Amino acid sequence: MFLEEPGMAPSDDNAAAAVLSAQGLTKHFPVRRGLADLLARRARVVHAVDDVTLTLRRGRVTALVGESGSGKSTVARLLSQLYPRTSGDIVLHGAVTTVRGGRAFRAYARKVQMIFQDPFASLNPVHTIRYHLTRSLRIHGNGGRTTAELEDALHALLNRVHLTPPERYLDKFPHELSGGQRQRVAIARALGANPEVLLADEPVSMLDVSIRLGVLNLLRDLKERLHLAILYITHDIASARYFADETLVMYAGRMVEGGDSETVTQRPAHPYTRLLIASAPDPDTIQGSAHEAVAHTPEDRAGGEPPSLIAPPSGCRFHPRCPAAMARCTTELPPRLPVGDADGHWAACWLYDPATVAAPRPAPSRPAVTA
Ligand SMILES: Nc1ncnc2c1ncn2[C@@H]1O[C@H](COP(=O)(O)OP(=O)(O)OP(=O)(O)O)[C@@H](O)[C@H]1O
Ligand SMILES: [Mg+2]
Repeated sequence: MFLEEPGMAPSDDNAAAAVLSAQGLTKHFPVRRGLADLLARRARVVHAVDDVTLTLRRGRVTALVGESGSGKSTVARLLSQLYPRTSGDIVLHGAVTTVRGGRAFRAYARKVQMIFQDPFASLNPVHTIRYHLTRSLRIHGNGGRTTAELEDALHALLNRVHLTPPERYLDKFPHELSGGQRQRVAIARALGANPEVLLADEPVSMLDVSIRLGVLNLLRDLKERLHLAILYITHDIASARYFADETLVMYAGRMVEGGDSETVTQRPAHPYTRLLIASAPDPDTIQGSAHEAVAHTPEDRAGGEPPSLIAPPSGCRFHPRCPAAMARCTTELPPRLPVGDADGHWAACWLYDPATVAAPRPAPSRPAVTA
């Protein structure tokens, strides 16, 4: 029955079954050609996402972390089949899936739903909550056959996102709700499809700090009760530790580190992840002045800026900013190498090449901060 909780405990063997995965997922956006490009017969592209491989599992939250422009939203849009991919595979329940609009897209969306950053923009201001949720239930065939069944399904959805009593919310318009309540409605609308996967693109970053935790706790509750596979996109690596089972780090379109969240956030291996953690706001100094906060951006810490994605750096894309860069980092792309401190912890960094480990490591030095 609709929204019925599966009888299986999350600790069952199947709980970690792969639902949706990306293998070598790549997206290049064409850049509009200027006169120089036309004369040189050059077609330039933005390398937004290159060779991204990840697996979303039943009953687990996977965080995708990285700074602005690293390609996180593009990964989510590719996984939800809103964009065609340049190359690579999207595998749903073991089958490579390519969807181009129409009924196939609807069938895919029944399994894979997306939640966006801005709940106000994603809800239509002229329609009530009842309209939004009814539409989702009907499109996905979950609205029942009678008015009473539809009403039950609407109530179940609002109860599921803790907007209770449901009748208080059903006939309200989006502007009559708080930001947190609107995001709960957006989540309820996604649940109207009865999906297996939720792709949450910065779901709390536009919300007041005081209500972020409530929405994350709701998502965790859904993961546990409905055994959803959740992709949690964020630039806040501290929240990944709190909320996600697994954490993956992206830099300039490529994945650079992955492993269980505790390991990645407590023992980061890749120099970029270390930088992200060093520049994350420290809860103890969060009361500090705005000036202090500005002085701790990743750019300030590492020197330089994220690279151009039209002509990304050769070798490791982080090498121009990396305090531990070696000669080979400028020419050779590092593969995923096991870090060796925990099962499944890897970094795409030559520091973890057994040959490098055997040789003395270069002392990490900080490049000069560019103005
Ligand atoms: N439709 C598009 N056409 C051209 N370039 C695009 C398009 N969408 C994204 N890009 C580029 O791809 C890169 C990755 O963008 P994306 O939005 O995926 O990053 P992000 O990690 O989600 O960033 P943010 O944290 O700011 O949301 C950026 O350089 C962006 O300018
Ligand atoms: Mg984004």
